[in-house]
Amino acid sequence: MTTESALRAARPTLDQRRRVLTAVPGPRSLELGARRAEFVAGAVTSALGVYVARAGGGVLEDVDGNTFIDLGSGIAVTSVGNSAPAVVAAVAAQAADFTHTCFMIAPYEGYVAVCEALARLTPGDHAKKSVLVNSGAEAVENAVKIARHATGRDAVVVFDHAYHGRTNLTMAMTAKAMPYKAGFGPFAGEVYRAPASYPLREPVPISGADAAARAIAVIEKQVGASAVAALVIEPILGEGGFIVPAPGFLPALAAWARANGVVFVADEVQTGFARTGTMFACEHEGVVPDLVATAKGIAGGLPLAAVTGRAELMDAVHAGGLGGTFGGSPVSCAAALAAIALYERDDLAAAARAIEARMVPRLRALADDAPQIAEVRGRGAMLAIELVRPGTLEPDAAEAARIARECAQRGVLVLTCGTFGNVLRFLPPLVIAAELLDDALDVLTEVVLAR
Ligand SMILES: Cc1ncc(COP(=O)(O)O)c(C=O)c1O
Repeated sequence: MTTESALRAARPTLDQRRRVLTAVPGPRSLELGARRAEFVAGAVTSALGVYVARAGGGVLEDVDGNTFIDLGSGIAVTSVGNSAPAVVAAVAAQAADFTHTCFMIAPYEGYVAVCEALARLTPGDHAKKSVLVNSGAEAVENAVKIARHATGRDAVVVFDHAYHGRTNLTMAMTAKAMPYKAGFGPFAGEVYRAPASYPLREPVPISGADAAARAIAVIEKQVGASAVAALVIEPILGEGGFIVPAPGFLPALAAWARANGVVFVADEVQTGFARTGTMFACEHEGVVPDLVATAKGIAGGLPLAAVTGRAELMDAVHAGGLGGTFGGSPVSCAAALAAIALYERDDLAAAARAIEARMVPRLRALADDAPQIAEVRGRGAMLAIELVRPGTLEPDAAEAARIARECAQRGVLVLTCGTFGNVLRFLPPLVIAAELLDDALDVLTEVVLAR
């Protein structure tokens, strides 16, 4: 028996069904909530009031035996399914061999193999190299370090509605003050913000090329092209509201960056790894970034992140200039290799497109009946609805919160996001069963229309 089949046999597969047995949260979750209130920092919040006992496929099971359909994937992380057997087996085997040596001290093959895979999978057929780190924020920070070192320039351009993380530099790069930045300054300098493309909220419709020209005019006037080291952008704005820019926006920005010696950094932390129906979201518009920051879906639920980019940019940094104690942990690398094999073997990008094909018509039909839905948008299995006061574009965060809360009470986990807090986002695992997805959509429909 292989390790994988042994583990599969040892661990009964989680029943792929929604099942609410108690009030949500149930008694055991309430007990844990009380312990948490005493010992866990109050600033750390959770979307669900229940505590998880097990998870797999498309469901989370809580400590009271309730099962929830997972439309969040731990924020776009468990795309291959929670505790995917191949990932579990790879982690167990690696942990039995060695858990840590520090790649900067005693290197190992898994790190090299993940970098090889990233060179193959990220957009563009140029020579590429990678550095592995621990989190999305750390990947973005390292991309900026590399771009600054390679160009000898200081300025970093980011966009309205951007989210890049919670470290000091990435807070500066993130747009939204509350809860991410308020009271945490002073922030890192030389970060400049340009207008994004947000088709629903343009005062007058504007093409992607014109939206890019508007951003470029701001950059050139307020910073000067020759001062800019990097332009950092999410191909679909994630925490900002799953905002898909107008077609042509990203290619025009990439062309401007190329023409001006600016490093074009795609923050694919949330959009990467098959989530949007292609391996990376930049591919939808044929954009080839100079550097790509990845994390979340890379390792089937284990912490790992990377910067992958043009070999000459990556190698511009002096020896010892990049790294970290845990960066590219052998256990995370083993998980990543197993997860990447699943993305490729099972064509999970096609699975994401199938999820889009199943969900979008239902969401559009719901929008026809629910005047509080201003827009259905997204790509692949990164979909959202934006909620407003009917007949206006005034954001309705309370309605988004109500829907998320009532869905949770019925056993469906949905997340909110958006600069205005009024977006419901859907990020199911790419392996979710079609019947589970349909059931979740039935619940969502009922809750939205129950207003
Ligand atoms: C686009 C983007 N960049 C960066 C980050 C930060 O990643 P992490 O939370 O792993 O630091 C996130 C997290 O949501 C993200 O969505």
